[in-house]
Amino acid sequence: PPVVARTFPALRRALAELRRRDASVALVPTMGALHDGHLSLVRLAKRRADKVVVSVFVNPTQFAPHEDFGSYPRTFKTDAAKLAGESVDLIWNPDIKAMYPDGFASKILTEGPALAGLEDRFRPHFFGGVATVVGKLFNQCRPDVAIFGSKDFQQLRVVTRMAADLDMGVKVIGAPTVRERDGLAMSSRNVYLSAEERAVAPTLYRALKEVAKRIKAGKSIESSLAAGAELIAEAGFVLDYLEARHADTLAPIKSIKNGPIRLLVAAKLGKTRLIDNIAV
Ligand code: PAJ
Repeated sequence: PPVVARTFPALRRALAELRRRDASVALVPTMGALHDGHLSLVRLAKRRADKVVVSVFVNPTQFAPHEDFGSYPRTFKTDAAKLAGESVDLIWNPDIKAMYPDGFASKILTEGPALAGLEDRFRPHFFGGVATVVGKLFNQCRPDVAIFGSKDFQQLRVVTRMAADLDMGVKVIGAPTVRERDGLAMSSRNVYLSAEERAVAPTLYRALKEVAKRIKAGKSIESSLAAGAELIAEAGFVLDYLEARHADTLAPIKSIKNGPIRLLVAAKLGKTRLIDNIAV
């Protein structure tokens, strides 16, 4: 089974052991409540480095006071068993006081993709918390590569930019979105959905595919997005955004000629907020 480190001395010892004979290290940052999406990142990590470290830390600073930090699923025992099944080498599971000791007063501020007007418009605190904790995790673990899911596409772009801009020496690698059989993107938050909500949740992915199909058929981006938004609203979602952006910069995009295009969506189903995205 993997070593579980909960303190900095334990982490340092475990990393020194992993690094013997110049082994390369991949980091997979998570907040636990692991599903097959997370495990696919672990499998990719194993192909990209000799040793794999998975961090499990529900990061308070990326949740607003009204959000679900308190109720976020915490399932460390089953998480650890799943990671043992994937032959992970080390689990980094610090407590909040270790990450944010009294007097903690620093923050990584990123621009560009973090201000694209997508998640940041609805969760203005979010990328400050993510960039800061990911920067800390990179400093703590000093990985050669780090794996992030395309499911959180804006987050992947923010972290990629930050690692490059701040010379963190970590190669950030994006992994494809893992979906349930009916197309719903796997998410730790899917457990919040009632049976009825779960049945309509795949509409989000269906709408993305419909928009992509229309754009590829030569329809305007604007009309294609409007058709997608209608599908999403009809299914009972309250839409936060459905947008077409440049896949690399997340800049707004008006024509398929200026691509590659990424379609990104966020919507609430009852109390649960879901996000998804696809390439055109
Ligand atoms: P969390 O939501 O636990 O996700 C951890 C990683 O798993 C992220 O890189 C996310 O994009 C990826 N992931 C989630 N669902 C996926 C799916 N269906 N397919 C592929 N990858 C998926 O994202 C976070 O945690 C946090 O913001 C974190 C980066 C750990 C910072 O606290």
